[in-house]
Amino acid sequence: MPVFRLWLAILLLSPAFAMAEEAATDSTDQVSYYRDVRPIFQGNCQGCHQPAKRGGDYLMTDHQSLLSGGESGSAAVVAGDPAASSLIELITPADGKAEMPKGKPPLAESDRKIILNWILQGAKDDTPDSAKEKYDAEHPPSYVRPPVLTGVAFSPDGSLLAVSGYHEVLLQKADGSGIAGRLVGMSERIESLAFSPDGTQLAVAGGSPGRLGELQVWNVADQKLAYSVPVSYDNVYGASWSPDGKLIAIGCGDKSVRAFEASSGKQVFFNGAHEDWALDTVFSKDGSHLVSVSRDMAVKLYEVKTQRFVDNVTSITPGALKGGINAVARHPDEDQVLIGGADGVPKIYRLFREKARKIGDDFNKIKDFPEMPGRIYDVAFTSDAAKAVACSSLDGVGHVHVFNVADGKKVLELEGPLHAVYSISISPDNKRIAVVGFDGEVLLYDLETGKQLKQFPAVPITTQTASNQ
Ligand code: HEC
Repeated sequence: MPVFRLWLAILLLSPAFAMAEEAATDSTDQVSYYRDVRPIFQGNCQGCHQPAKRGGDYLMTDHQSLLSGGESGSAAVVAGDPAASSLIELITPADGKAEMPKGKPPLAESDRKIILNWILQGAKDDTPDSAKEKYDAEHPPSYVRPPVLTGVAFSPDGSLLAVSGYHEVLLQKADGSGIAGRLVGMSERIESLAFSPDGTQLAVAGGSPGRLGELQVWNVADQKLAYSVPVSYDNVYGASWSPDGKLIAIGCGDKSVRAFEASSGKQVFFNGAHEDWALDTVFSKDGSHLVSVSRDMAVKLYEVKTQRFVDNVTSITPGALKGGINAVARHPDEDQVLIGGADGVPKIYRLFREKARKIGDDFNKIKDFPEMPGRIYDVAFTSDAAKAVACSSLDGVGHVHVFNVADGKKVLELEGPLHAVYSISISPDNKRIAVVGFDGEVLLYDLETGKQLKQFPAVPITTQTASNQ
């Protein structure tokens, strides 16, 4: 018995046994395209190989095109024959570098093995019909009822309103006279929209829950996708531009806060200080610092250059904070932020502490505005800093309140009743405010009087036919 035991131990520990077992697993395990391969392509390749962005005229979001290849004219994948598949050649590193993913480190060996085995096993597509990518610029989504709207943004020249749709962003003419463009991308859900300071680009944060987070950057003039960055496997939120237009920040469902070089999409900032989803971001006035808010109730301040966490802007006393924070906006002229969240009270905080932290203080807080019904989902300053605006929702009814920044008083409630509202944007001339939410309509109000000016559906609605009622 002891002899047998010893022999068994040697066998189990020997590298030869480990290798034999690995090989056996490789050839017998059935690789699923949908479960195993597609996530690798989504996370590393589809940013450049999708309908809105066909690097090398090669589309990887559709199984047929994935096999057939692009401009080279040779098949990217030959079922059962990895050696004849140019895709395998392109992802195999030589001297630590591989052709694809272009400009990035090679795929992990484990990922390359999964792709290799999938091709060996016949490169089949087991994607359920419901999960097949079916939308592109020529085949935009069609709607029988309006989608819930989570983002709206005026362009800096005031001529356009970007509105979140399903799988797309709609560029509406800001006077409500019609659709100027449809930016159809990979992400099902669009969480946030932000025009660059010069208005030439639009950053879009979103994803497909539990599968993909994505930052898209679109060129506004020709309505082309400049690039898409896959970010983690969950939605991303709260896109913001640095004042000089060089960086774009987002908050992530994986709790991290990240920033990217706007010209290239290269990640230049990562911090994991939050304990829950990071939902919104904003840069300090000179762009040297970044602020994020989260479901973990905290407002956090970072130095961009060093990627270092600097301070909790809010109090860290247990019990002092009430509920998650959904939105942050920077004061146009000062290093102060307006925040709003689950407690319904819009607040202004200064970013940089003027004296050492004492436990229990909430020293950075400058002002509380009067409480709103329910949870606050978005906040904004007018560009002259005279007014602060917040939207909240309670039991499916939305509220938009306008406050005087100077004395902290509420000056106006937009006339309702409104459905639940999730996003607001103030026109650059401070005369109008756009409001979107649950009912899929874009509502335009006069910011001076609170009167509704116009209401129109964010997306084109297909009339329902008898067959799909
Ligand atoms: C940053 C953008 C980018 C990323 C990421 C990227 N590609 Fe590419 N890919 C390109 C471009 C651009 C080309 C055209 C050839 C070139 O410029 O090198 C190309 C060409 C290809 C081709 C040749 C198509 C043909 O038949 O002409 C294949 C295959 C390919 N890529 C596979 C991949 C795979 C697999 C991944 C992920 C592991 C990936 N690519 C990631 C940009 C990218």
